[in-house]
Amino acid sequence: MEFSPKILALICTYCTYTAADMAGSARMQYPANVRIVKYLCTGRIDILHIMKGFEAGADGIMVSGCEAGSCHFLEGNLRARERVEYAQHLLEECGLGAERLVMYEVAASDAPKWVIAVKEMTERVKALGPNPLNSGWVPEVVVPKELELAVQR
Ligand code: FES
Repeated sequence: MEFSPKILALICTYCTYTAADMAGSARMQYPANVRIVKYLCTGRIDILHIMKGFEAGADGIMVSGCEAGSCHFLEGNLRARERVEYAQHLLEECGLGAERLVMYEVAASDAPKWVIAVKEMTERVKALGPNPLNSGWVPEVVVPKELELAVQR
């Protein structure tokens, strides 16, 4: 059976979520591998949320927010980018690989870009294979309920 990756999309409500919603309304076709967790702004996403997502079994995580200069909270997306880069470093260090985590910028009006991002992320994670932590290993640390539920959906 072909590997169907579980991908978490941690996205901001103002831009990327609007684009994702528009893509759905316009019936644009894209892989159903993505589980969305909506944040007010990507600046609210903590490195721990990302690491817990992988611990909960996500095969890949995409963080997506407003384009540079368009964040409704001024610098939230810039802070998110710094955290993503640091988390990529941690993923590389622990052997999961930095490629499993990607940051995108998708404007509210750019539903096609969201579709391309999901397709690109799905193909990327398919090529990487399953998250090695997702092989029956039970984490001792409590995983935030929203992330756990999003992965299991
Ligand atoms: Fe969208 Fe900050 S409001 S990234």
